[in-house]
Amino acid sequence: MRILLFTGKGGVGKSTVAAGTAARAAAEGHRTLLLSTDGAHSLADAFGVAVGSEPTQVAPHLSVQQVDAQLRFQQSWVEVQGYLLSVLDRAGVDAVTAEELTVVPGAEEVLALLELRTQALTGEWDVVVVDCAPTAETLRLLALPEALGWYVERALPADRRLVRALRPVLTRAAGVPLPADSVLGALERLHADLVEVQALLSGPEASVRLVLTPEQVVVAEARRLHTTLSLFGYRVDGVVANRVFPAGGSDDWRAGWVLAQDDVLAGVEESFAGLPVWRAAYRAQEPVGLEALRGLAEELYAGDDPLAAPTGPGPFRITRSSDGAVLRLALPGTTRSEVDLARTADDLVVTVGSYRRLLTLPTALARLDLVGAGVVDGELQVRFAGAPAAAVDVPPRRERTS
Ligand SMILES: Nc1ncnc2c1ncn2[C@@H]1O[C@H](COP(=O)(O)OP(=O)(O)OP(=O)(O)O)[C@@H](O)[C@H]1O
Ligand SMILES: [Mg+2]
Repeated sequence: MRILLFTGKGGVGKSTVAAGTAARAAAEGHRTLLLSTDGAHSLADAFGVAVGSEPTQVAPHLSVQQVDAQLRFQQSWVEVQGYLLSVLDRAGVDAVTAEELTVVPGAEEVLALLELRTQALTGEWDVVVVDCAPTAETLRLLALPEALGWYVERALPADRRLVRALRPVLTRAAGVPLPADSVLGALERLHADLVEVQALLSGPEASVRLVLTPEQVVVAEARRLHTTLSLFGYRVDGVVANRVFPAGGSDDWRAGWVLAQDDVLAGVEESFAGLPVWRAAYRAQEPVGLEALRGLAEELYAGDDPLAAPTGPGPFRITRSSDGAVLRLALPGTTRSEVDLARTADDLVVTVGSYRRLLTLPTALARLDLVGAGVVDGELQVRFAGAPAAAVDVPPRRERTS
């Protein structure tokens, strides 16, 4: 099953391009679901039909679904969130943990992710196209599974029976609220589900496409988005330049825009070297309705197959070196000085700008020393070497390299 996510700055045409791509896939006979994680009911507007919170068929092979968070609001998540907030609130939370917790987004976004998993599990779809919310929400959403996983594994006691036995004592002694049983259960289930979602989204059949319009600010945001998506392990496999002014005519105003956009588009080709940059013209009318949307996608992808599986290595991999191993994480557009690294025994904390990822190191790496790091051609390379440390009596260590 192919999963395509469309994201980008607000208003650039994410819903339009996602809908067009889905319409084209369906026209080729693929069983296609177009899923919106956005609160606004823009898919209904794009197709000019009512769209429900269950998949609604709008054309042969094409169904559209608008995840309705209000409708699916679950008691368990309210409880989980309440608990997380109470933990965050109390003093003495380790800074990294506290920061991680703040990325926990609202219920709407989480439910949208879970719906993606549910639909994937039905086996009814060959293609799922996801129309994401604008940049910031999408990033919080995509960072969530791992952040929550880290939290569940590290910050919550492993043995629930022990928690139950100790709760009264610890609560009194330390003033630390321990999670109620129902919360633990809900957290564990949520965690398991989100791990599956993340496996789907960072797997070989999923990719993200960046939608932009040829304007400097929009492109700058798309570039940062590319870096951050990669930081979190998501694979970007193409860029859509939408609302490109067609050349022609004798109007100075239009000629001025065409020139300005040409300039920006040249920069786009350069910044996203190695990725296809698909273009769609600024239409004289809003592309609304099945025919117009499919037409836009035909123009956009031209001869390319929009469903082709992404090629090349994903953003994250580990390679062996003569004396150890190298952890490689694509961070396009960054230099070493923009990347902060910190290591605890089992985690590598990678910070780029205001985004941070806690990478749990595979066992083989966790036992080695971090001996150096650099950014080469937009790829962070962290070198690990040394004899495996004596297993148990190594004190937890924190190394900082920058
Ligand atoms: N190539 C195009 N030519 C003309 N109009 C377009 C084109 N692409 C999109 N539009 C129009 O621009 C408006 C915004 O598009 P759309 O809703 O797809 O953007 P979006 O990125 O999903 O916005 P939001 O961030 O609000 O979700 C819509 O009215 C849409 O019909
Ligand atoms: Mg939209």
